[in-house]
Formats: sequence, structure tokens, C-alpha cells
Amino acid sequence: MKLFDVYPLFPITPVRASGSWLWDDQGKKYLDLYGGHAVISIGHSHPKYVEAISRQLNAIGFYSNSVQNPLQQKLAEKLGEVSGYSDYQLFLCNSGAEANENAMKVASFVTGRSKIIAFRKAFHGRTSAAVASTDNPKIVAPINASHHIQFVPLNDAAAFDSVMNDEVAAVVIEGIQGVGGIHVPETSFLNHLEKQCRKYGAMLILDEIQSGYGRSGKFFAHQYADIRPDLITTAKGMGNGFPIGGVLIHPDIKPWSGMLGTTFGGNYLACAAALAVLEVIEKENLMTNALEMGNYLAESILSLNVFSELRGKGLMLGFDAPEQHKTLRKDLLFQHHVFTGESSPNTIRLLPSLALTRDESDFFLEALQSCLNQNTVPSSN
Ligand SMILES: Cc1ncc(COP(=O)(O)O)c(C=O)c1O
Repeated sequence: MKLFDVYPLFPITPVRASGSWLWDDQGKKYLDLYGGHAVISIGHSHPKYVEAISRQLNAIGFYSNSVQNPLQQKLAEKLGEVSGYSDYQLFLCNSGAEANENAMKVASFVTGRSKIIAFRKAFHGRTSAAVASTDNPKIVAPINASHHIQFVPLNDAAAFDSVMNDEVAAVVIEGIQGVGGIHVPETSFLNHLEKQCRKYGAMLILDEIQSGYGRSGKFFAHQYADIRPDLITTAKGMGNGFPIGGVLIHPDIKPWSGMLGTTFGGNYLACAAALAVLEVIEKENLMTNALEMGNYLAESILSLNVFSELRGKGLMLGFDAPEQHKTLRKDLLFQHHVFTGESSPNTIRLLPSLALTRDESDFFLEALQSCLNQNTVPSSN
């Protein structure tokens, strides 16, 4: 059987990883500023993480959600404590799309409505309502297109107000837009969305799947604003590579038996992985490190005077490569062995482990400078 060929692949085969580094099957070493798409939060193969999953696997790896699993409660308590949302409730699932799907479902159950407001350049996943609220018609199949979704430009309060009404079940917004090219919602805009959701009885869903888990320097990026969303979705950094997603649910929303469900969500191994991630984030002060390293990278990149702006917060950064440097991502990868992310058409995205060091940042900055020098035409005077 062949694989269903949907991914454009780099000709690189990683076989080992540690911290911010990867090694391929030829023994070549790569600096990972992509984190497998913002997934690696505490660093590859962190010893505490490896130990926690291995220990759990030797005890029990899986049983169903029809029995008690105290690890789920332990994870909910730890996540509440580290995120500042102790009074919320946690529903565990397996991926980002699934988290958003469940959040929109809860909003629809609670309000009895079906209309969703989402934003231009948004990405919320590839399943039913998640892909329908993603601003990319190419990946929306006819079966997904029947959802009732209204897109408006990010940070445009007037455009938002023109479509907001009492038919809206939920407003879904990324803490920082990732796939769309690193666009940050303004604090005043988030405050406005919260106020309007309250006024019209709609639910505010913060998709923190990419921007959460400390990446922005706060546990969730929306915590730079003074809001308390009805639903917050997480995945990616939550398991540092072990598949797990979650929905944090406001205490006013009451569950009923059978309202949501999953076979694999909240399994023992996923909980062990997610608990280890939170313990390491806390013990190693990774949120502070993300902010400090992010500021250092942002200032250093801007001081090169090549990029017109640098967007993002903490270790979720994006800058647009000018036409002359359009091969930058490939040059970084193939000439300097540095993985970065990309957004169409020319945004370089940095999504490294939150444990990135100053030396690793400098390694990247030197590689960047070298790529830029190579594609810069010397001035004639
Ligand atoms: C903001 C955001 N939401 C949702 C998703 C979907 O997550 P998953 O691929 O785990 O379904 C992504 C993935 O890139 C994302 O960046």
C-alpha cells in the first residue's frame, strides 16, 4: 500500500532529537525553530517527559473513559493552576481540530444557535466546523461548506458589529493567528468581542492551540487582554508531541451525561505526557524564557534593517522575507540546517521550543545574516 500523498516533503529523515536539535539518518544536525509546527514546547525528548511516559506505559497505557482515571483530574488541577483558570472545567480530546469542534458544539448546545463568526486568515483545523471556520476555501469540501460561518477582518470592530447579532452561537478567534502569518489581535479588539458576546448571548472561543502553553510569554496569548473566554482550546504544545487536545470550559456551562465523548481522549499516556509538560514549564520557568528569548530574537531580527516589521509575542514570531530573499526558508534549512516555519506567500515563522537558549538564538541569527548577505546585491558606491 502507498501513503495517500498529501504532504509536500523535505528530503530529510530525522531519526533522533534532543532539546532544540534534530539529527537525520545521515548524522546531520539541525536547529529546530519550527518545533514540528509549534508542538515541541519543553524541548525534544526531555528526560522528565521520557521518564513519565515510559513509567506510565509500564503501568497501564490505555483503558476507556468508562472507568475512573485519576490522572485526568490531576492534569485538570495542574492545568488550572498553571494557566490561572482553576475554576474552569476540562474536556480532553486528541487534537486541535477536535478541541475546536467540541468547543463549537458546546457553544451550539448552550445557545441553541448555529451561526459562527470567524476571522480572515483564520486556521482552526480540518474537520467539519473547524475547517468551515478556517479562511481557506481550498481545504473546505462541499460537505463542510453547509456550516453557517461569517468571516470578518481581524481587528475591525465595525465589520464585526455589522454581522454580530442574536443568532450567533460563537465567535472563534486565535490567541495569535499562526498559519495565517502571525497576526496578533489587538487587546481592545478582544475586549470588544467579549463585550459583544455578553450583549448578544454568544460564546467567545479562544483558539490557543498554537499560541497557548506559554509560547507567547503568558500561558495563553489572550491573557495579555483582560478577558475570560467561555471556551479555550489547546493542543500542540500540550503534549510536546504526544497527541492530546483539550477544551477549557467556563464554570457557568453545565455538562450533561453524554454531551461530549471520545475513545482515546484523556488516556493514561496522554495525561502522563501533559502532566510532565506542565511540570517542566513551571520548574524551568519556560514562560519567562519564551518572553526573554522572543524579545531578544525580535530586537536582533529588526536591527538587521531588512524586514519591514516583526509580528508576534514571545516565541511565536513572524516576519516577511522581501522578494530578493524569497528563498530564505530553504537557504536556512539546506545551507545552515535550521528548520523554520512558513506562511504563504513569504512569511518566516519561528516556533521553537520554549527552552531555546541564547546560544541557539545566536546560531540562528548568524545563519540568517549569512543568508541575507548572500542574496544582497552590493551597492555601487
Ligand atoms: C490555531 C490552530 N487551531 C487548530 C489547529 C488544528 O490542530 P490539529 O492539526 O491538531 O488538528 C491548528 C494547527 O495548525 C492551529 O494552528
